[in-house]
Amino acid sequence: MATPNDRNDTDLITAIQSDHQEVKSLLEKVSNATGSARTQALQALVAKASAHEAAEQEHVHPLTRDASGGEAVVEQRLQEESKGKAGLMELERLGVEAPEFDEKFSTLKAAIIEHAENEENEEHPLLRQAVDEARLRELVGPYRDAEQRAESQASV
Ligand SMILES: [Fe+2]
Ligand SMILES: [Fe+2]
Repeated sequence: MATPNDRNDTDLITAIQSDHQEVKSLLEKVSNATGSARTQALQALVAKASAHEAAEQEHVHPLTRDASGGEAVVEQRLQEESKGKAGLMELERLGVEAPEFDEKFSTLKAAIIEHAENEENEEHPLLRQAVDEARLRELVGPYRDAEQRAESQASV
């Protein structure tokens, strides 16, 4: 079981933001790698991004819905997440050697970064307002557990 101190996450929002940094660094790895290293980097990106979005959908977006103005913000984020997921699946299907991979990857990379920024700029302030700090700290464990569960299900 993940504990809140596994990664020095202080609360749910800092845990999410540290995931965003991890996703950005995996995006850079895919950008810079070639051949089989690029395939491996893409697999790591897909695994991390899928687990992250699953954990957000379980533990984060429902809290945002309860915040004032939260419904619309969540609906937009869910649309971005489903486009991102479809885009990653398409890239995996194409494979890194496909002629259109670079162009499609760079479009998707920009969209994934924009999605993370939209969460940080629109969703996280709502969560800070709506959820007290003690609860945000308690939720780190369940959030990390949901990510681990998603990752282990994906690797079966
Ligand atoms: Fe997300
Ligand atoms: Fe996120």
